[in-house]
Amino acid sequence: MIRESALGDSLTVARVIAALPEAVLAVSFEDRVLEINPPAQALFPGLRIGAPLARILRSPDILDAIGHARVSGKPARASWLERVPVERLFEVNVSPVEGLDFGPMLIIYFREISETRRFERMRIDFVANASHELRTPLASLLGFIETLQGPARNDASARTRFLAIMREQAQRMARLVDDLLSLSRIEQHLHLQPRQPVDLALVLHHIVDTLGPLADDNSVTVRLDAETPVIVSGDRDELLRVAENLIENAIKYGASDGEDKRVEVSASLDDGDGVITVRDFGPGIASEHLPRLTERFYRIDAGASRAKGGTGLGLAIVKHIVARHRGRLKIESAEGSGAIFRVFLPLHNP
Ligand SMILES: Nc1ncnc2c1ncn2[C@@H]1O[C@H](COP(=O)(O)OP(=O)(O)O)[C@@H](O)[C@H]1O
Ligand SMILES: [Mg+2]
Repeated sequence: MIRESALGDSLTVARVIAALPEAVLAVSFEDRVLEINPPAQALFPGLRIGAPLARILRSPDILDAIGHARVSGKPARASWLERVPVERLFEVNVSPVEGLDFGPMLIIYFREISETRRFERMRIDFVANASHELRTPLASLLGFIETLQGPARNDASARTRFLAIMREQAQRMARLVDDLLSLSRIEQHLHLQPRQPVDLALVLHHIVDTLGPLADDNSVTVRLDAETPVIVSGDRDELLRVAENLIENAIKYGASDGEDKRVEVSASLDDGDGVITVRDFGPGIASEHLPRLTERFYRIDAGASRAKGGTGLGLAIVKHIVARHRGRLKIESAEGSGAIFRVFLPLHNP
């Protein structure tokens, strides 16, 4: 698309700029806009060809970079944070191009780095969180070891008590490392959709049986409605993990904390999908937590989760497994009225 251009007969330059996917401007050394591609026009709706750039683009950092490039004849770079309508971060590159028949110009290229920056921040947070989660039980273990080597050296009853706590802390670390490893394994294979036939009814029967003792310990009744096969396309082990995480959460955070100590689990069909539904009638989840619940290490009450053996990674693992299966996870809840977790998975068609 070539609109009016100030590049005269140098249409090639104008065409190249217009074809670039990110915002690009060409500006003369006298600060006149020579060319704007559509993404740049969208970014700066007020820019006009022939008008001075500084009238619209007021970022001092970018103007500095332009000044530098013009004086030195070398490329210069600046960062630019756009705040409205949403926050976006750009790396702005200013490159002088000389020796053109219509005179020298500057190419200003806006590379958006918001996503890259967000991923970087997530990765840093993740490493910090994981280290923090591991450091707490580790510090406690070291403390007990020192006590057993020193003051409690000859105290047999203290030794028995401390060893039990140490074992618990070590198990917590082991759970955390297991969860971190499964998360990274699932992430590695995220692009590969698993396609084995898996019967959700069997998966749910298996997990409800396995979690029987946990339900009994918490005086929770689990009702299972999965009489007919629901065959989805997936990976059996991963779907077992999904069911286990959801039912375990419903028992631990839902039913056991409420007056109504019931959990309802079902496998059903819904418009071309197989559905796992896990429902509890406990305290529910306030709406401000819902969007963040599947983030790694996000817990409504970290102390309560740790006390119940949680790592804060269960729902993150569920979300990743569901994504790999090209399915959907839906959470419905309001404070005081229990929670419903639903997983929709594509049916298997042989
Ligand atoms: N059924 C539920 N009812 C109330 N809160 C829940 C329920 N399921 C999950 N949660 C909340 O979500 C948090 C994250 O769950 P999860 O990722 O499985 O981590 P974990 O169980 O290891 O704490 C839990 O700590 C809990 O606060
Ligand atoms: Mg959990």
